[in-house]
This record gives sequence, structure tokens and C-alpha cells, in this order.
Amino acid sequence: MCGIVGYIGTQDVSSILLSGLQKLEYRGYDSAGIATVSASELHCLRAKGKLSNLEEKLASWDNPSLLGIGHTRWATHGKPEEHNAHPHRDAQERLAVVQNGIIENYRELRAELQDKGYIFRSETDTEVIPHLIAEQLTALQGQESKGKGSLLLEAVRQAVNRLQGAFAIAVIGADYPDELIVARKQAPLVIGFGDGEYFCASDTPALIAYTRTVLTLDNHELARLTRGGVTLHHFDGHAVRRSPRTLNWNPVMVEKQGFKHFMLKEINEQPGVIRAVLETYTAQDWQPSYNSNPMRLNLPAALTQDLEHIQIMACGTSWHASLVGKYLLEQLAGIPTVVHYASEFRYAPSPLQANSLTIGVTQSGETADTLAALEMEKHRCAQSAQGKHARFLGITNRPESSLAGLVSEIIDTHAGIEIGVAATKTFMAQLMAFYLLALDLAYQRQTLSLERIGEILEGLRQLPAQIEQILESQERYVEVLAHNFVDTTDFIFLGRGINFPIALEGALKLKEISYIHAEGYPAGEMKHGPIALLDRQGACGCDRHAWPVFEKVLSNAQEARARDAQLIGVTPMDEQEATETFDALLPVPAVDEVISPLLTVVPLQLLSYHIAALRGLDVDQPRNLAKSVTVE
Ligand code: AGP
Repeated sequence: MCGIVGYIGTQDVSSILLSGLQKLEYRGYDSAGIATVSASELHCLRAKGKLSNLEEKLASWDNPSLLGIGHTRWATHGKPEEHNAHPHRDAQERLAVVQNGIIENYRELRAELQDKGYIFRSETDTEVIPHLIAEQLTALQGQESKGKGSLLLEAVRQAVNRLQGAFAIAVIGADYPDELIVARKQAPLVIGFGDGEYFCASDTPALIAYTRTVLTLDNHELARLTRGGVTLHHFDGHAVRRSPRTLNWNPVMVEKQGFKHFMLKEINEQPGVIRAVLETYTAQDWQPSYNSNPMRLNLPAALTQDLEHIQIMACGTSWHASLVGKYLLEQLAGIPTVVHYASEFRYAPSPLQANSLTIGVTQSGETADTLAALEMEKHRCAQSAQGKHARFLGITNRPESSLAGLVSEIIDTHAGIEIGVAATKTFMAQLMAFYLLALDLAYQRQTLSLERIGEILEGLRQLPAQIEQILESQERYVEVLAHNFVDTTDFIFLGRGINFPIALEGALKLKEISYIHAEGYPAGEMKHGPIALLDRQGACGCDRHAWPVFEKVLSNAQEARARDAQLIGVTPMDEQEATETFDALLPVPAVDEVISPLLTVVPLQLLSYHIAALRGLDVDQPRNLAKSVTVE
């Protein structure tokens, strides 16, 4: 969580920092701040709350500068107050630091520094960093090494070697107007290359208005950015050489393009995402035969051969996609599969199994729990008999992310950058990755006939047009329908089989953006508990209830109806009985059940979006959430 930016160059820095922070606000929005250097002075401006508060203050801030850093915060240590906002400074106010991550040993460091007389002005973990750097600088300035290289770089290097935890930092100093130092350990940091100007940020959307030439800092690396170029260094001091790469993004991708919110734009981008995935990973003119695999995932045989077991690690929406994945891997490819919450797996790992594949699923590739679970599993495998034969695969929308360092192969989900905090098109892309992986394995293992593989592939090819049809026919209707539910206090989402994870995802979408209590259940489970809630609420005659339901759960819907719940049905268009059962219908094209989750999720995304928008909430940046959860 938290977003950091930095700039050194020839243009005034404040507007560059602000525009970068706007693109990173999805990472946190409790407070924001910037620090700049000019005329050998450090200037700092911070504001509690959303970035717009900082923007207001900036309007009357007159400190032109060519060097600066900025931060948008998701509070971990210390309340979201101005004194806890970044940048944090040393006692003399000559150094400024922004940080994304958590310094786990900050208590010991803080006590040590306080014993030496350092005064702390915030409750954050970050504030130890400027004090540590200042202390190192004082020591270095008294040493012979003076004049042999960048003192600031060396002081930061020594300071980061004392930090435990996951972090990315950017540092500037009033006495160092020609350099910006960044460092990274398990939190993302990317450097942008311009002409005589250089940028840094937690994520590439902050850079692409200025440059598409970028370099991702690796763990345990520092970089020194000057107007003449960038040098890379390992935490142990040795120089590192690596070339930047060119992004194939364009600045328009991070604009709303006429939509009211990014979430709505991203829901509408889903047909294009499916087309891109199919184009990238399937043969367009496949003639059914065991001599030519229709899937083009190009996974090495060593990863997929003789698989006996698959385990998946993920969080949140990625966990829901993985549940659909489990269904597909088991039912289509016949491989026993378990899905772990990454945050739970770490504390109760399953016994290691031979011939097993571990899949990490994370759209951002930066979710701390998922990365930590994968890292732990790699370590366990390395120490076991499986050793180097352990197999790891990542499914991500960010192939350049930290996930890449933990897995040998990646399926890039090609959804394009997603800005809305609530995942929509990246969920769709993850589902597609699982369909293609399951079909690939089914083909290799011959667990499905060629005809059935062809049928499912053909079904997938129809999806973009079918989703376009849902969007076109339902957008306005769902917007009107949403009026009935703006004051609803409880939703239960029911689904069966492969659509049960869609019930979970529908509930998560609704609660994260509309703040309405929602739960997802396998439809058959309703009578084992949740139905009591219905009776109680109905008897009180207070809140209304809504029940989005999926195909093949009509009898469960009838049970709910008998208890006065309002029912919304997401069902195939030709289900006659559905029209008699539900108060409102969100029909989807009648397709092969195995493909249905890719359609049933769309009306639920629209419903959540419109309820939240009608409630006047900040759909793209819901309270307390962040797009990349980079803390454990
Ligand atoms: C999705 O709507 C959520 N914001 C959240 O659950 C998210 O899916 C989760 O934090 C995992 O993120 P990842 O896919 O980047 O790992």
C-alpha cells in the first residue's frame, strides 16, 4: 500500500509529483505530501485526507524546484493525521524520506535513536529512516571516504541495511540538490528514464505520461538518479548493471475515457480483454488433432508433465478466480487441486506432495501475503527431497512485478492496467487464464475428447459478443433497478457448483464499494443457517433483502421468496420458470454451464457499481482499501 513518486530533471517538480500521485492514489488515500529541494533548502507540504486536499494547498505554494519526492498514504502505523503523513524528515530538516511498506524493527530502532537524543514527531515506522540516514551522514562526513562517491547514497545504503521488513523508499537532501536515492526490498519501485530527467514511482501508471522507458528495481537494490543518468547498486555495495525496457502502454489507458468511473470503464473493457487473451494464447484455426495443441501457453513440459496435484495461493478476488480454476482443473483436466488463502497457508502449510505444481494468482503481482506464501513454499521445497524439481507458476496482470522473482513461468493475463480498486476486468482475465490452463492440461492428458475441447473453445470465442450484449441491454436497466436497493442492509448471493465462486465475488464487489453487508453462499447451504437471518429480519419488518441468485438454484430461491426476501435472478434467458420466481431478472445468454461464470459475473459487477454510485460513494477508491496490499 502507499504510493511513492520522485523526480529529478529540468522541469518544475510539483506538478509532476502531483500527477504521479493522482495515478497512484488507488494505493492509498489517507493523506499525501511532497518534499522538494531548492536554494539549498528542503520544502515540505503535507495534507490529511485525499490528494485533493494537498492539491488545494499546493495552489498557494510557491517553491519552484527541479527535485522532489511525493507520497500518498494508506495508514499502517499512526492515524491518518498530517503529522503522520509522508515525507518524514530528520531533526535538522535537511533530509526527506517517503516509504511504502512496513519497517518491522522500527520499535528497536526508534528506542535506540531516542536514547541518542533523536526527537520523533510522528507515530510512523518510517520516521526512523531519515534519522538513521542523518546519523550515517554525520559519521561519513567525518571519515576519509569524503569525496570518493555519493555520501547520500552510502548513507542510505548503510541505513537500509539496518531495516527489517518490506519497503521501498525515496530520499532527497537539501545538501544534495543533484541526486535522488531510491531503495527497494520486497515492495515495488520502478525508475523512468527521460531526456536529462528521471522519475521513480511505486507503479508504472505514474510514469507513462512522461516516459515508457522503465527499469524495475530488484530486491536489495538501490539506485542513484541524477540529471546525468542512473546507477544501480546492491545493498552490499557492489555495482549492478541492467538495461531499461520499453512499456507497450499509452497514457490514454490510465484515463477514464468518458466513463464516470474507472470501474465502469473496466467492466466495459472485458470483451476486449477476452479477445486479447484468446488471440495471445489460442490457435485461431485449430483442426482437432492430438498433433497440434490449440493452446499456446507455451509452458515447459517440466512444469506440466506427470502432475498429480495442484495447489493455488491467492487473496481476495484472485482467490475467487482460483476457486473457479480448481473446478476447471479438477473437472476438465482431472488434477486434484486445493486453493489456499495465501494469508492462512503461511501459518498452516499442507504437507509437501510429489509431482505438485504451485500456482500464485495475483493481478498486481505485489500482494504481500501471496508473495510470502510462495516464498515460504519455495524454501520448503528447496529443503525437501523435491528440491530443484519443485514447480511454480504465476498468473498475473503484471509480469514485471515481484511475483516474477518467485516463479519460473508466468501466464500474463493481458487485461491492461486496472485503476479501480475493485477488480473486474482482471478477474475476468484470471478466469480466462484458468480456462486455457485447464484445457491445455486436459489436451495433454487426454482427459477430454478433442470434440469437447473444441466446443469449450468455441464457447469462449462467443463470450466477447455475449458480454457486449449483456452490457448493452442491461446497463440502463441495472441502473434503474439499483434504486430499489440503495437502502438495503443485507445481501446474500447464492450460487451452485462453478457459479458458487461467482456468488462470493458478487458479495465481495458489493461490500467493498457500497459498504452494504453481503455474503456469498453455496445455494444448498442456505437452509443450513442463513435462512434464519431471513426469518428474523422479516419478522422485524425492517430492512429489505435482496437475493441475487444463479441458474439451477430456483428451489432455493423459492425458499427465500416464501420468507419475503426480494429476489434478483441472474439466469439463462430461456429459463421460463425464472420469470415467475424472481422479482427482477438479469438474464445472461444460455451457454454451456462450464462457461457460465464468465457471463454471470457481469450483471453482478454492474449491480454493485450502480448501487455504490447511487449511494454517492467513491467507487474507484473505497474507504480503507488499496489496490495493492503490500503489507502482510
Ligand atoms: C478486489 O476487488 C479486491 N480489491 C482485493 O480482494 C484483491 O483481489 C486482493 O487484494 C488481491 O489482490 P491481487 O490480485 O493483486 O493479489
